[in-house]
Amino acid sequence: MANFIASPSEFLKGSIKVPGDKSISHRSIMLGSIANGVTNVSGFLEGEDTLATLNAFKDMGVKIEREVSNVVINGVGMNGLRPSLKPLNLGNSGTSIRLMTGLLSAQSFDSMLCGDESLSKRPMARIIDPLREMGAIIKSSDSMPPLSISGNQKLSALKYTLPVASAQIKSCLLLAGLYADGETCITENETTRDHTERMLKGFGYQVTSSSGKVSLTGGGQLQACDIEVPSDISSAAFFIVAASIAKNADITLEAVNINPTRTGVIEILKLMGANIELNNQREEAGELVSDIRVCSSSLKGITIPKELVPLAIDEFPAIFIAASCAHGETLLTDARELRVKESDRIQVMADGLLSLGIENEVLEDGIRIKGGEFQKQTSIIKSHHDHRISMAFAIASARSNFELDIEGVDNVKTSFPNFVELVNQVGMNLIETQ
Ligand code: S3P
Repeated sequence: MANFIASPSEFLKGSIKVPGDKSISHRSIMLGSIANGVTNVSGFLEGEDTLATLNAFKDMGVKIEREVSNVVINGVGMNGLRPSLKPLNLGNSGTSIRLMTGLLSAQSFDSMLCGDESLSKRPMARIIDPLREMGAIIKSSDSMPPLSISGNQKLSALKYTLPVASAQIKSCLLLAGLYADGETCITENETTRDHTERMLKGFGYQVTSSSGKVSLTGGGQLQACDIEVPSDISSAAFFIVAASIAKNADITLEAVNINPTRTGVIEILKLMGANIELNNQREEAGELVSDIRVCSSSLKGITIPKELVPLAIDEFPAIFIAASCAHGETLLTDARELRVKESDRIQVMADGLLSLGIENEVLEDGIRIKGGEFQKQTSIIKSHHDHRISMAFAIASARSNFELDIEGVDNVKTSFPNFVELVNQVGMNLIETQ
């Protein structure tokens, strides 16, 4: 088991580029594989999660070549995927299993999808139930992976209102909808990330999105295109928080995706008083990107606006660290979804914060955090093998005056393989031990 030892740092300085966006990288493989023609992807995230998707499509007969972060996908067309000879192992990746279950429910062959211990405990009823309404046949025990999909089903289109704000459910159903008879229409009451809709349009598929409704009609084709994956704001978030809480910081994160369905972390930190500038905003390959400059600030506690929760859903472990360093109390509610991520991120963060002397109150759907000074209470912080928990506590060292020991950080590789290198590049002191 790998651990982090994060020592205090004097200053944070420099300009770095964090790796490619995880959500966009997954989708580039999925859509590139079922498109006609060759899709060239640059800036692909070489994380374990996105490589799990890439390998799964290779297992289904798609010729995919990768050199570092450049990927060439030889699309096989809408009906060109072939059954895998072995179960598709999607590791730790919820995005892979949920989106692929939609796509594979509509294929002419059977599939078996599985993953690691954490993925095997994540709820799948949220996709299985609506897919069954479309005519899919999926077996599982207690609606958790492994999932066994019986192919050769004719799917019918679905009109569906998302019961939870989830881009994974929306995307799963849109991918199934590509093969369904008629128009699939998904309504969302809260905005969630829209990369699937954007990328489908980039592949020439007609998708209508307006006022919380996304619709497409099955039976069309995708045309290969080139995809430049921008840097992942979810990875940048650790540095944005680190620089905001550090006593002496001025760092720039280059070319980060600032798609408005993903910028909740910036809005929340700005409400807390963070010193964040978005410079050189431009559009690259259909996504908005910007250089993000962050300097030290004096943060204050806030009540996090509910509508920002889905727009910052992966960034709360880092935001909780910011709240711990703020003056006053921060209150988060309406964030029940955090309990079913790679770990129960409310409880695991609450336990870790307590071990750093930060008072907090766990709520059923959120947390109340009283800002203060980090004080060593217990020697080891447990990440519960959740990549974002590991990285959140690592960047707490930007403000602590003692060494932090974080246990079980192996899964940082799922989303941010060069995290340790970049953290040290801006002046923090982080080592990984085995
Ligand atoms: C993702 C959507 C989010 C997010 C996950 C990636 C995606 O999950 O937490 O890391 O790529 O669609 P939900 O949509 O289920 O909240």
